[in-house]
Amino acid sequence: MSATITSIAHYLPPDVYTNDFFAKYLDTTDEWIMTRTGISERRFLKEGATSDLIVPAALECIQKRGIDKNEIDCILVATVTPDHNFPSTAAVVQNKLGIESCWGFDISAACSGFVFALATAVSLVESGTAKKVLLCGADKMSTIVNFDDRTQAVLFGDGAGVCIVEKSDDASKGVLDKLMFIDGKGAPYLHQKAGGSAKKVSHETVENKEHYIYQDGQAVFKAAVVGMADVSTEIMRRNNLSSDDIAWLVPHQANLRIISATANRMGIGPEKVMINIEKYGNTTAGTIPICISEWLSKGLIKDGDNLVLSSFGAGFTWGSIYLKWHTNGIK
Ligand code: COA
Repeated sequence: MSATITSIAHYLPPDVYTNDFFAKYLDTTDEWIMTRTGISERRFLKEGATSDLIVPAALECIQKRGIDKNEIDCILVATVTPDHNFPSTAAVVQNKLGIESCWGFDISAACSGFVFALATAVSLVESGTAKKVLLCGADKMSTIVNFDDRTQAVLFGDGAGVCIVEKSDDASKGVLDKLMFIDGKGAPYLHQKAGGSAKKVSHETVENKEHYIYQDGQAVFKAAVVGMADVSTEIMRRNNLSSDDIAWLVPHQANLRIISATANRMGIGPEKVMINIEKYGNTTAGTIPICISEWLSKGLIKDGDNLVLSSFGAGFTWGSIYLKWHTNGIK
């Protein structure tokens, strides 16, 4: 038995912020941002929370699948920017969608959130614990980005991707393998200093801007290049996949140079790599489902295509999923 993605949609807020927007008030340039990251513009949600990014994508996803919303029996939300520490954003989404009876929870794995949540959804379906999982990867990064710090302000964006995971009617297609890791030794290089139980919010933590992202960009960059390439080549090796067998690499979109290094190690040319970082920046748990949704709507993914999804993020977290594209014949 395997599980597969039967429907997918995404939502990006309408307000676009170009590199020149930042260059007007920070010591940065369009050229620096483009050459060091590959990012040209990103979207920020002015009003509302992460659930408000998810709901429009979820409605479209359910409508495309052609089911009643009450057939969803589980909601998973991968995010590091939940609406609240509690209740879960999954519960907020359930209520906003008006789904009468289901369960669900949030998954915190930063930029690997979608990969870890997809692996979880697949296990829930394969074990019979859930039939139709609404899987959401979404972040409103603009709530935790320090817009006065040029080393992080330009990197992130807001966005959501939502899919439905259910049993594949062809066991040879769907999610065929998953390989994931965490290593807490990476925590010092990418974290939020205050706001959790380790350091509660106070006037002092706010004054020190400790509620924003803390990132040692170079350390994360070096670890990401190695981690994403290692896990991607390992999933190829253990599934006997050559670069010719792969239709699409779907990498987390944090930095074009990390994506290129991963593709190079896999022997995959740029024409087979999903890249939209120039338009949206790093939307954390949103990047991978947004890519798949965009490519699918452009008719660029065919039944039976081999996709390798790869991510790296705070934790550190990293992982890869081998997905043979199949939607149970649902358009
Ligand atoms: N504009 C202009 N200069 C900038 C800048 C900006 N937006 N951001 C940083 N710089 C400067 C730095 O201050 C530094 O200046 P200095 O030499 O005078 O100190 C210089 O550029 C080089 O900084 P460095 O950090 O070495 O740049 P980099 O090439 O490593 O690029 C990142 C920085 C953040 C883009 C890169 O390290 C990265 O992408 N890291 C991974 C981030 C990531 O993936 N995070 C999400 C989790 S997956």
